[in-house]
Amino acid sequence: MAENNKTYEKLTKKCREIALLASCEAVLGWDERTYMPRAGAQLRADQLGLLAGMVHEKFTSTELGDWLSELEGSDLVKENGTPEAANVRETRHRYDKEARLPKDLVEEFTRVTTLAQGEWVTARQNSDFKAFLPWLEKVVDLSRQKAEAYGYEGEPYNALLDDYEPGATVDMVSETFKLLRNDLVILLKKIKEAPRQPDRSIVERPYNVDLQKVFGESVAAAIGFSFDSGRLDVTTHPFCSGIGPGDTRITTRYNPNRINDALFGIMHEAGHALYEMGIDKKNNFGMPTGESASLGIHESQSRMWENQVGRSKEFWNYFYPQAQRIFKTSLSGVSLDDFYGSINAVQPSYIRVEADEATYNLHILLRFELERAIMKGDLKPTDIPGEWNSRFEKYFGLKVDKDSNGCLQDVHWSSGLFGYFPTYTLGNLYSALFFNQAKKDIPDLGDRFSRGEFKTMVDWLRENIHKHGARYRANLLCKRVTGEELSHQPLVDYMNDKYAGIYGF
Ligand code: CO
Repeated sequence: MAENNKTYEKLTKKCREIALLASCEAVLGWDERTYMPRAGAQLRADQLGLLAGMVHEKFTSTELGDWLSELEGSDLVKENGTPEAANVRETRHRYDKEARLPKDLVEEFTRVTTLAQGEWVTARQNSDFKAFLPWLEKVVDLSRQKAEAYGYEGEPYNALLDDYEPGATVDMVSETFKLLRNDLVILLKKIKEAPRQPDRSIVERPYNVDLQKVFGESVAAAIGFSFDSGRLDVTTHPFCSGIGPGDTRITTRYNPNRINDALFGIMHEAGHALYEMGIDKKNNFGMPTGESASLGIHESQSRMWENQVGRSKEFWNYFYPQAQRIFKTSLSGVSLDDFYGSINAVQPSYIRVEADEATYNLHILLRFELERAIMKGDLKPTDIPGEWNSRFEKYFGLKVDKDSNGCLQDVHWSSGLFGYFPTYTLGNLYSALFFNQAKKDIPDLGDRFSRGEFKTMVDWLRENIHKHGARYRANLLCKRVTGEELSHQPLVDYMNDKYAGIYGF
C-alpha cells in the first residue's frame, strides 16, 4: 500500500507538471484569439506545435505507463468510484489514446490547425470557401489520420467523439438525437401556426455597446462569475478557457443592434466558467478529478445559465427593471411579457450561435451528419457547401445565400474539432435533466431568481456536479444526480411548456 501511495504521488506530480505545460498552451491559445496581431500567426503555430509535442512526449513516457500499470489492480484503486480509482482509470484511457498518436502527427495537427484558423477568419469574412478549401482538406486529412491512429469500433467518428465525450459512441447518441429531431419538427410546426407571435423587433433595436458591457458584466457577477479569478474580453467567436487554478477567461461579442448575442453569450460562457471555477483545481490540477467530466457536461452548465435561467421569466422579474433603466430608449414602454416573448422568439435562421432554443439542435444534427460522412470519406471537403445547403433548406426551409451563412460559419472544422458538435446537443439534453432535479431539490428556486438570488443554484451545481471533476463519466454523473438516463424527453417537455406559454398553443 505504501509503495502504491508513493507511485500515485509520482503520477500526480508528473501530471501536474504536464498540466502546467498545457496551461501555457491555453494562455497562448487565448491570446491568439483575442489580442495577437494577425502577422504573428506563424510564430504562434510554431510555439503551439512545439508545446503540443512536449506535452505529448511527457504524457506518453514509459514511466507514466509503468506507474499506471503498477497502480491498476492495487488496493489504492480497488474500490470503484473513489477519486483515486477514477484518476487512474481516466489517465489510463487518455494515455492509451495519446500513445497511439505519433509525435509528428501531434505537432503537425497543432501547427496546421493554428494556421487554418487564421485562414478561416479571412475566408469567412469574405465568404470565400475556395480560399479555405485547401486548409480544410489538410485538416480533414489530419483528423482522419488521427482517428485511424487511435483505432475505433464501428466508424472513425467514434474515435474522435470519445476525445470530447469519453465513452460515448455514435450508436449511443444517434438514437436519442433522432427522437429529439422528430419532436422538434412537431414543436416548430406548432410554433409556426400558433395564434400568438411575439414581437421579435424588441431585441433588434439599437443597444449601446458600452451599456451592454456594463449590463453584461453585472449579470455575470450576479450569477457568480468571479472577476478576481476571471476575465471577460471581446472576440468574434466567444469561448471560455479554463487556464488553471485561479484563472478562467471568457469572451463575448457585441452587436449594437441586438441585445441577445452578447447578453446570452456572456451568460453562456459564464456558465462554463462557473464549472471551471467550481472544480477543485487547487488540489487536483492535472488529474481527471481536476478537470471537467466531458464537453457535454460542460455545455449543460453553459446552456442552463443561458436558457433555463437567463431566458426565464423569473430571471427577468429581477433584471428587467434594471435593463429598462439602462436601455431607456429601446425598452421604454415595453412590458416584461413582451420583452420575455421577444428574447425567446423562435425563428429559423442561418447562424447556429444566434439560434433560438427550439431550432438550435437542428443546427447541431446537420453538422453531426455531415461530420460522420466527412470522416468516413463519403463526403469530400469540396462537396461540403452543396451538401450543407441542400440539407439546410430541407431542415430550415431557408436557402443559404452565402457560405459565411452556411458551412463557413463555425470555427470548429478549421481547428480540427471533428467530433465536438454532438456535445452541444448532449449539453442541452443534460441541462434539462439537471435543471429539473435542481427545481425538485430547491422548491423555491424561481422565487430566488426573482429576487436576484443565484447562489443557491451555484451551490447546488458545485455540490452535485462541479466538485467531482471527471470522477464520474457523463452518463453516470447524470444518473447519480437525477436518477435518470440521458433522454430527449426532459428537454422536449421543457420547451413545449415554455413555448406553449409564449405562443399560446
Ligand atoms: Co459552450
